[in-house]
Amino acid sequence: MIRKEEAYQDIEFPKGFLWGAATSAHQVEGNNTNNQWWAWEQEGGHINDGSISGRACDHYNLYEKDFDLIKQLGHNTHRFSIEWSRIEPKEGKWSKKEIDHYRQVIQALNDRDITPMVTLHHFTDPIWLAEKGGWLNPKVVELFERYTRKVVESLGDLIPFYNTINEPVWVAYASYGLGVHPPCHNDMNEFYTAGKHFLMAHGKCYRAIHETVKDMGFKIKPQVGIVKQMMYYDPVDPNVKEDVEEAERMDELTNRWFLEGIHTGIIRKPFGKGEELEYLKDSWDIIGVNYYTRSQISPRLNDPKVLELMLSRRGESTDMYEVYPEGFYKQLMSVKKYGKPVYVTENGIATKDDKQRCRYILIHLREVHKAIRDGLDLRGFMYWSLMDNFEWSLGYSMRFGLIEIDYETLERKPRPSAYLYRDIIKSNKITAQQFEKYL
Ligand code: BGC
Repeated sequence: MIRKEEAYQDIEFPKGFLWGAATSAHQVEGNNTNNQWWAWEQEGGHINDGSISGRACDHYNLYEKDFDLIKQLGHNTHRFSIEWSRIEPKEGKWSKKEIDHYRQVIQALNDRDITPMVTLHHFTDPIWLAEKGGWLNPKVVELFERYTRKVVESLGDLIPFYNTINEPVWVAYASYGLGVHPPCHNDMNEFYTAGKHFLMAHGKCYRAIHETVKDMGFKIKPQVGIVKQMMYYDPVDPNVKEDVEEAERMDELTNRWFLEGIHTGIIRKPFGKGEELEYLKDSWDIIGVNYYTRSQISPRLNDPKVLELMLSRRGESTDMYEVYPEGFYKQLMSVKKYGKPVYVTENGIATKDDKQRCRYILIHLREVHKAIRDGLDLRGFMYWSLMDNFEWSLGYSMRFGLIEIDYETLERKPRPSAYLYRDIIKSNKITAQQFEKYL
């Protein structure tokens, strides 16, 4: 965990650091009736706490109020997603009303001097796409590219940062391999196919953004990247070869092949056949890292001693994940070799104990600072999430927000952690006293 002698020192962040929080459309907007999640929720029995996304935080209508709050809390950036199923509710039919809505949303951020970071795909697909097989259908690559071009043509003069796809490997696995997101398939081959299509779609989307910005004559020079969840795979016993090898296998399967794919243009097995795609090669200007926790790995978990060892190593719990800040530093440093500016696009905690949230933020920002100290070009941090929201199959039971939402009244109440974060942003540093107070 945290070593005391290290803990109580002031740490300062680079000038111009971007500070903010993240959300995604389906989790906060409400009434996203045209995507596959909405349809799945209506079937009943899928969401753990029995809820449905419904009106969520009604951010679709209350975004200006929310951005006023963000401003008061000192954030200088905001990451959010555009909902494909709003922009293209029927295949090939564009909704001018929804495009105008997102124009107003982005404009509202710009008016408040808050830099927008736009995600084009965050877990949800239009129902018409799901009906065509979703990410298993090879056509999805060009359909996603076409949607991207439409967004950039209509809104690209206002967008400085794009995230193409949020957590492509996780969403492919959750939907087609593990079966916890719709359409809930359990087929590793489908996972590989969907994963490959996400990688190809990323490459096409990257090129499409830059081409469209140029064709439209926009002055803005957007920075485009992927958002990669970087789970840290920790061998239960680092001295046992099988554990180490299994952790490396998991890292390759869920982290490396995708990042290397973007870097080299090669789609590795088992996702591809080693084919090299020119448009994919070096298709990023920035890298977004989402980090939450580690996963302890061993192929020997039916041995009670190994299980015991694993449990004995377990750190502090939250409502969802183990707290493991050391893995954050390691995963951040693991992308240094690509030589691109890095942004933490998500890091946060589900807890009803806001003191724990304060502590979590401080010890994770310490890792961010260490990575910068050790030469990583890390330029921003976005806490997950700005406000409590619809946590996918866990519904509304998880509380990730800097801002508490009362789902009955829709009242927004910044938690003490939001003010701690505000103070950090304001001074661009964390003081020894702040560490002392919370650790
Ligand atoms: C996703 C978010 C989600 C968060 C917390 C990330 O995997 O991008 O949508 O709410 O984790 O589980």
